[in-house]
Amino acid sequence: MTYFKTLSTARLTLRPPRPGDKDALHALHSDPRVMRYFSEPPWTDPARAAHQIDEDACAFDREEYFRFAIVLDETQQMIGNCTLHALHRQNRRAEIGYALQPAQWGKGYMGEALGALLAYAFRERDLNRLEADIDPRNTESASCLERLGFVSEGYMRERWIVGGEVCDSALYGLLRRDWDAKQN
Ligand SMILES: CC(C)(COP(=O)(O)OP(=O)(O)OC[C@H]1O[C@@H](n2cnc3c(N)ncnc32)[C@H](O)[C@@H]1OP(=O)(O)O)[C@@H](O)C(=O)NCCC(=O)NCCS
Repeated sequence: MTYFKTLSTARLTLRPPRPGDKDALHALHSDPRVMRYFSEPPWTDPARAAHQIDEDACAFDREEYFRFAIVLDETQQMIGNCTLHALHRQNRRAEIGYALQPAQWGKGYMGEALGALLAYAFRERDLNRLEADIDPRNTESASCLERLGFVSEGYMRERWIVGGEVCDSALYGLLRRDWDAKQN
């Protein structure tokens, strides 16, 4: 059963979300700073987090999508999450999504977490291509992707309407062979 899947990095553990993450998950996704460039407005319903955790567990088991909670080893706190979703098996591709508590920004944690997620995607799930769709104004997210080797591949106008705000998309892609070439 994949539910117990765990990924480890130098400072972090990535594991499927658990019921005990409920409050941290609500705090993460109700924070307007985190949700500024997300595909949905900040969460307001505290029950949403428990529901999401249940859904994530089912999705992991059914291999529909894979959301990992990011746990800081030093404190054992859940500080964010990252997800492999929109899997397309025939074409061996998926999208990634991610969010981190603002108190932990600028410490290289998301790059570290996504490094493990990419290895999982390419090696364990045998994907050939990963994609990210970000708001072009989200420069921190763009830098994080570029550091990992993602390449800017396109721009789509007015692709999202979030809380009434019309937003463009910057599209990024990473091929397995380019990622492989960066590994030592
Ligand atoms: C986008 C986001 C995930 C970036 O998280 P992050 O952990 O700060 O990103 P990185 O892992 O790339 O961190 C790199 C930064 O940490 C710094 N850093 C400090 N110590 C580091 C280390 N040991 N290793 C690497 N970088 C380190 C780097 O210099 C860099 O700073 P800079 O951007 O000023 O150059 C985070 O800002 C976030 O959650 N934003 C809100 C949610 C969001 O927009 N998600 C994306 C929607 S698609």
